Amino acid sequence: MRSSSGSSLIVFLSLVLIVLIAVVPGAQSSTDPPAKPLKNPVASSAKSVAAGQELYQKYCKHCHGDTAKGDGTLAPSGSHPRNLTDEAWQRKLTDGEMFASIRDGVGPKFQMKGFRSKLTPQEMWHLVNYVRSLAPKSSR
Ligand code: HEC
Repeated sequence: MRSSSGSSLIVFLSLVLIVLIAVVPGAQSSTDPPAKPLKNPVASSAKSVAAGQELYQKYCKHCHGDTAKGDGTLAPSGSHPRNLTDEAWQRKLTDGEMFASIRDGVGPKFQMKGFRSKLTPQEMWHLVNYVRSLAPKSSR
């Protein structure tokens, strides 16, 4: 009977291994796909930009400011909300990365929290389209 208890030990250890493989990476990364290559599924129409602008007034303006230059009056003290009109910054960032910042918030201190529980993905893409509309056209 030695060999049978030996093989159940192997089965047990394999199960432990499978559970570890499944759980440990999950603790660090979410199940979201990588942000950078995410395609913006919402065309940047005037309607989408207008929807984004409306959402911006409601959820973003108090930190990022009326003109989105990062000068909102209610930003957490010591924080520096990004100037969203900065075209050099916009050029470096894909739509997917901007979407993920809105969805997940911005680390390391997360003075900007994510909007996952407040906004639908479509609303976040409207915001991306709105923010894109703020940079001078030469950057696009
Ligand atoms: C509580 C204040 C606050 C609110 C509300 C807020 N932000 Fe921010 N946001 C910040 C701060 C602070 C940063 C800069 C974070 C850093 O660099 O550490 C930032 C950064 C960003 C960035 C740059 C992320 C990057 O990866 O470079 C984007 C895009 C952005 N915000 C968009 C938005 C949008 C859109 C909204 C509304 C849905 C919003 N923010 C609401 C404070 C805020």
